[in-house]
Amino acid sequence: MNVYDSEVIASMLLEDGYGAVSSPEDADVILVNTCSVREHAENRAIGRLADLTRYRDAVLAVCGCMAQRMGERLFQLVPDVHVISGTDSYDRLPDIVGQALETGGRYTLLEKNDCITYSLRPIASHCSATRYLSITRGCENYCSYCIVPFLRGSVRSKDPRTILREVGSMGSAGAKEVTLLGQNVMAYRAGKINFPGLIEKIINGSDIPRLRFLTSHPRDIRFEIFDLMAREKRVCPHIHLPLQSGSNRILRLMNRGYTRRQYLDIVRRARETVPDLAITTDIIVGFPSETESDYHDTVDLVEKVRFDAAFTFKYSPREGTAAASMDDDVPTAVKKERLHDLNETIGEIRREVLREQLGSETEIVLDGSVQKREYHFWKGRSPHFRNVLISGNHVREGDIVRVRLRELRNFTFIGEELVRR
Ligand code: 5AD
Ligand code: SF4
Repeated sequence: MNVYDSEVIASMLLEDGYGAVSSPEDADVILVNTCSVREHAENRAIGRLADLTRYRDAVLAVCGCMAQRMGERLFQLVPDVHVISGTDSYDRLPDIVGQALETGGRYTLLEKNDCITYSLRPIASHCSATRYLSITRGCENYCSYCIVPFLRGSVRSKDPRTILREVGSMGSAGAKEVTLLGQNVMAYRAGKINFPGLIEKIINGSDIPRLRFLTSHPRDIRFEIFDLMAREKRVCPHIHLPLQSGSNRILRLMNRGYTRRQYLDIVRRARETVPDLAITTDIIVGFPSETESDYHDTVDLVEKVRFDAAFTFKYSPREGTAAASMDDDVPTAVKKERLHDLNETIGEIRREVLREQLGSETEIVLDGSVQKREYHFWKGRSPHFRNVLISGNHVREGDIVRVRLRELRNFTFIGEELVRR
């Protein structure tokens, strides 16, 4: 989401007459967009900010969730920061950054606004093959460990016409794949249009070759989405369905609103409709009071579902959340051990799932290149969100290439080019 927000902010600044430079030495203004979801993310942002204070001639601005959460406290932590902007104030940023440039003073923009949504200004100059687009902001689920609802406010959905305009301009700038974003895209609603309705509108109203979306809360899943995937090749057969835990007791404490049985049911029904569906997930280990047996329930569910990939995290208490008042009683060493063990299991399964694809054909959107020793590879992404490298000098970013999956190195395929379009 921050990738998209950063593009929005950049497009506002471009519209205001600023231009982008490629290194901080040349910048008059440096903006750092931040995340608060775990303490680790905040520590990294503070480290980065402290490092950037070297560029003494530039105005240093912090935006995003950490700016919203810490507010003026950031001036104490990193004294050379000039502007602190919360997540609901980006439309005022160009103006305030301009003032900071003129006066060298300090400014804060921390008001909350539960109605605001942002869209890319038409001037946006970005042109990569795979793009992100936020369709909702905010979250009202209040999962007990999560700080997002406190910082990002209530759910608001963007107007479908605005979304279509953005998809259109991303397409004209060369995008081949757009990922629709929301803390929970299944909560999208604009008048009579729900999330599957929005997908249909975009498919019919644009010629974008591929659409995908993140994140889907299991509790709110709309099964029409799988019918759409089965019917419409442009909707990628991939769903990111955060599990968080496989233990019913922990799921209840997390306020997730589903049981392991219900999660497995969703997976079963989804795969009935889309047999080759790729499912990815998020999992937290070491939530307060998590026992070995709770943890084993998570491992068991991972083995049953066979995820394509999973993001795994150690529980990190966030101030003000319901879980922060529970005893963070799983020792750090145990959290570490469970995380390591879980990643091993996930990795083994992932390797098996990917190995089953060897020899098959797929289409990839080229979205970058990599140099590995003397070899030059193009990097592409399959509809199932799998990484594929191909060699070849005659292709370009944004090409859609039909490939056969020949080899698996770690979790990346080496593909052989069949046809290009
Ligand atoms: N501690 C650890 N992981 C967290 N996440 C959200 N909040 C926390 C927390 N306090 C994880 C969840 C979520 C992902 C984006 O971050 O798994 O799905
Ligand atoms: Fe946080 Fe839960 Fe909302 Fe996701 S659904 S942003 S984990 S509160």
